[in-house]
Amino acid sequence: MTYDPVKDVSADAPVPAEPAQREPRPYAPLYRVTPPSSVLIPMTYEEAEALRQRSQNPLRARAPRSSTAPRGTVRPSEVSFEELERSTVARHYNKRREVGRDARELSPIIPLKRFNNWIKSALISMYAQVGQQPDQGARVLEMGCGKGGDLRKWDRHRPAMMVLIDIADVSIEQARQRYEEGHYRWAAEFFAFDCFRRPLDEVVPRPLLEPLFDTVSMQFCMHYGWDSEENARMMLSNAARWLRPGGTLIGTTVDDETLLARLHENEHSLSFGNECYRIEFDQRHEPGEKPFGDRYHFWLLDAVDDVPEFVVDWAAFERIANEYGLHVIYKARFDQILSDGYANRPLRQLLERMQVIDPNMAAAGVVTPAMSPAMWHVCTLYLGFALEKRVDATD
Ligand SMILES: C[S@@+](CC[C@H](N)C(=O)[O-])C[C@H]1O[C@@H](n2cnc3c(N)ncnc32)[C@H](O)[C@@H]1O
Repeated sequence: MTYDPVKDVSADAPVPAEPAQREPRPYAPLYRVTPPSSVLIPMTYEEAEALRQRSQNPLRARAPRSSTAPRGTVRPSEVSFEELERSTVARHYNKRREVGRDARELSPIIPLKRFNNWIKSALISMYAQVGQQPDQGARVLEMGCGKGGDLRKWDRHRPAMMVLIDIADVSIEQARQRYEEGHYRWAAEFFAFDCFRRPLDEVVPRPLLEPLFDTVSMQFCMHYGWDSEENARMMLSNAARWLRPGGTLIGTTVDDETLLARLHENEHSLSFGNECYRIEFDQRHEPGEKPFGDRYHFWLLDAVDDVPEFVVDWAAFERIANEYGLHVIYKARFDQILSDGYANRPLRQLLERMQVIDPNMAAAGVVTPAMSPAMWHVCTLYLGFALEKRVDATD
């Protein structure tokens, strides 16, 4: 047959037979290879999420949420969960699961964690105050306590009681659990709320805030609250307001001088770091040019995933602290704290026990941290401080 473009070929096509009318019947496959009960039902979102968490690296998996709130935890009726969940920081720390001591030891940054723990022990032992009454332990407030990793350090200081606060409610539940498992002989109360944006007495019952605390501790958390002068003031006034005269505020945070010096080493890039950490600034500012809200994003191997932090401008910190009656008695970068602590016998022994320093180098008279230079580069980003409350406070 030759092709005729004008002819309608469909007219020659055989007419298809009418399809046979079938009776509708219920779904019942004839050739199934599995019994009917094995039909796979699609997972719900919650089940998929649970499976994802179970199949994660245990160091990174998320803790199952307990349905009951620990005593003292502020629940949604008091602080809206949107308020908590909106915060990237709370979300990040809520996601990080408490893995237990053995699993913690497997972390690739364990030398850095040991060193940071030693730094906190050193600050507690050098600057935490004791209670004012003879034989009475200290009253301690910990803001940004995380999963309660410092409870054992405080136990050695024999506190009378502790109030622990963190914005991440899952972390607070884990801190409470750790406290219970530790069978400590002193009381502790736990609260989940944003203590950089709310006055403490809005949430913590007054009888827990008085008598005033002997020491307030803020470890590795201040840089989350330095986004505005208002929040920085709220954080520091919360610390100062409930501290007795002669009491101390101790803490650790990022050293602004080191941070900005590293940023300015390369004028064409807003980021720097190495295989252990990475920091990326939003904008480049000269030291002191933007005392609040100078934001950068921080990534730390096996610990922090791209969380926004803010440069804590030390001059602004000291100025506001002074207004609230807090005066600096110690400030040193972590490498300096290592030298200072090494001169103190019990702290030197603790350094050795915690395997923070290289024993061979120490025997040869050189104090060298037992970690890679890349990891040490992270440690030297931080400083520790102690401030004393004096009675000239305006607050
Ligand atoms: C790096 S972790 C340090 C945890 C603990 N202090 C330690 O040294 O292991 C910082 C902690 O600060 C908490 N945090 C950040 N912003 C906060 C806020 N506005 N109020 C209370 N806690 C906050 C985080 O949830 C997190 O647990």
